[in-house]
Amino acid sequence: MRSLLTQYVSCVGAYVATGEELFLAEIEDIARDAIEEGRRLEEMAGLHEAALLGLVERGVVCDAETIRRTSACLSAFMVSSTVFHQARVDVVHYDRARAYSERARQRLETLGQLIGGMAHEISNLLQPVVGLCELSLMDMAEDAPERENLEIISGCSARASGVLRNLLAYGRYAEPELKLTAFGAAVRKSLDFVTSVSLLWPALTVAIEDDRSRVVIVEEELTQILLNLMQNAQQAHARRIDISVTRTAWRFPVTEEGAAAPPLQPALRLAVADDGDGMDRDTLARAAIPFFSGKPPGEGSGMGLAVVGGIVKSFCGQLTIASKPREGTTVSIYLPIDKSDCAVETV
Ligand SMILES: Nc1ncnc2c1ncn2[C@@H]1O[C@H](COP(=O)(O)OP(=O)(O)OP(=O)(O)O)[C@@H](O)[C@H]1O
Ligand SMILES: [Mg+2]
Repeated sequence: MRSLLTQYVSCVGAYVATGEELFLAEIEDIARDAIEEGRRLEEMAGLHEAALLGLVERGVVCDAETIRRTSACLSAFMVSSTVFHQARVDVVHYDRARAYSERARQRLETLGQLIGGMAHEISNLLQPVVGLCELSLMDMAEDAPERENLEIISGCSARASGVLRNLLAYGRYAEPELKLTAFGAAVRKSLDFVTSVSLLWPALTVAIEDDRSRVVIVEEELTQILLNLMQNAQQAHARRIDISVTRTAWRFPVTEEGAAAPPLQPALRLAVADDGDGMDRDTLARAAIPFFSGKPPGEGSGMGLAVVGGIVKSFCGQLTIASKPREGTTVSIYLPIDKSDCAVETV
């Protein structure tokens, strides 16, 4: 602390004597180094008082100009300390968040492997149930009294097999593959899967106006988008979710610096609208920021919308969210039609 105090006192003394701005810059550097060394903000604030006492001992006259100059030193010192302190806090916060997300990712991966293994096992066990039901039904008289029960068993086990097949297909995908894909059909297919994995969704309406236009997507990631958005709606106590795909025109942001205003481009809009709790302005502004969650601690990782945003960006698209408290939320995803330079393959 002594050497820090000595450095600070000598810079304050020099600035008081000369009024040269470069001593203020030096004070800012001293503050930055001290924060990087791990000094606390309270410690830094106490330093100025010690420096002033030092100057008084040295017999520096306390006229109005000296007071003005020592105040300028204090503000340079504290502003710099605070800025670098905040940067340090942000880094620590970011590192913690990264470690947390890595642990969450590993946990999910393990869970995914467990579920995959179980799905396989149950799928194998279901095969004889489905097969033997079918054989028994073939051998059975049309008016046999057991027929109705057996048909129910056969229908349920076939449906359970289908759910497991979907789950295994979803889990198998390894490398995300961007493909120019007929979007309306892909949305229907994803929704078939999403609705098959839970019976607890709010009432769902689906309106697909354009079935043929193609956009660049990874189908498994489209499923992930719909799952995340529908879960958010469900958790916001929505009673209904309206999903639509419409053709529209959209100005996709231009990334190059100095580029002209973006032109309108043919696009598809996927909208997921719910009638749930909605969001206030503050929540809405932060909803898509990684690790932001409006839910009680432990209930949300805050990564759902951030992941959706990242996926939409990789599809060369844009995400918008409109919401008001008690009036529900509409998440819209705009994707450029036939933007082949975002694609690697065509299906
Ligand atoms: N449809 C919605 N209705 C109301 N609030 C929403 C909706 N979607 C998101 N939010 C708000 O935005 C926050 C961030 O959402 P996000 O999906 O990123 O994280 P999360 O749902 O909290 O956690 P996770 O999805 O990782 O489990 C939510 O906690 C919620 O406060
Ligand atoms: Mg979520």
